[in-house]
Amino acid sequence: MAAEEKPTQEWQADRYAHHAHFVPTLGQPVLELLKPRPGERILDLGCGDGVLTEKIAAAGVAVIGVDASPDMIAAAQRRGLAARVMNGAQLEFAGEFDAVFSNAALHWMKGDPDAVIAGVVRALKPGGRFVAEMGGHGCVAAIVVAMVATLERRGIGDAASAIPWYFPTVGDYRARLTRAGLVVDYIELIPRPTALPTDMAGWIEVFGQPLLKRLPATDRAAAIAEVVARLRPVLCDEQERWTGDYIRLRFAAHRPH
Ligand code: BEZ
Repeated sequence: MAAEEKPTQEWQADRYAHHAHFVPTLGQPVLELLKPRPGERILDLGCGDGVLTEKIAAAGVAVIGVDASPDMIAAAQRRGLAARVMNGAQLEFAGEFDAVFSNAALHWMKGDPDAVIAGVVRALKPGGRFVAEMGGHGCVAAIVVAMVATLERRGIGDAASAIPWYFPTVGDYRARLTRAGLVVDYIELIPRPTALPTDMAGWIEVFGQPLLKRLPATDRAAAIAEVVARLRPVLCDEQERWTGDYIRLRFAAHRPH
């Protein structure tokens, strides 16, 4: 399959709010690392439906949210936020932000992480901060293995190439930030087993589309059931509570004066 034909992730704000409301809730420590100050101008990169963008705005900040998903941006605009559709690898800002913030979005910008970081650096004022959290090396490894095994059993030989996420190590991402001209003040990989509010089938339906779309539509429900069965002994307890094997990469960097 040619690169431009790769199945892509499609976001539906209502389904996301139902199965994945933990994502912004667990973003609180990143907000604390950002320390937004009244009067600042901040970009929320990959703002989704704007739950955290709204919290940044509540600190007295002029915040702009960008996201590649029109449905998510529509949801953010319904909250009254300044939000617009934009590709994270083609940011259209120059020297205007005191900080760029991002939660749980950078791992989706897999194609060209250096272009994403270069756009952030361009968007920052001298001295401006880049504070973010994304999936880190080993994130959702059990889920990835179960999904790839399920696709391969159905004859999809290159299933691993359809994994839509970029989960870097500390060394990889620190090197990219530094090469782009940023000073890294803090960077850490944080294992964070994450209670899922619904179940693994819901998680796969929301986050696993690029992998599922490699299968005929008529086989997807059976494939989800197979992934769930593979993961049950690892990620589900006896009370039917599911835990995602999340690992975060959290960092703070700044553009020198
Ligand atoms: C994450 O936020 O780390 C994540 C989200 C979706 C899929 C995988 C990881």
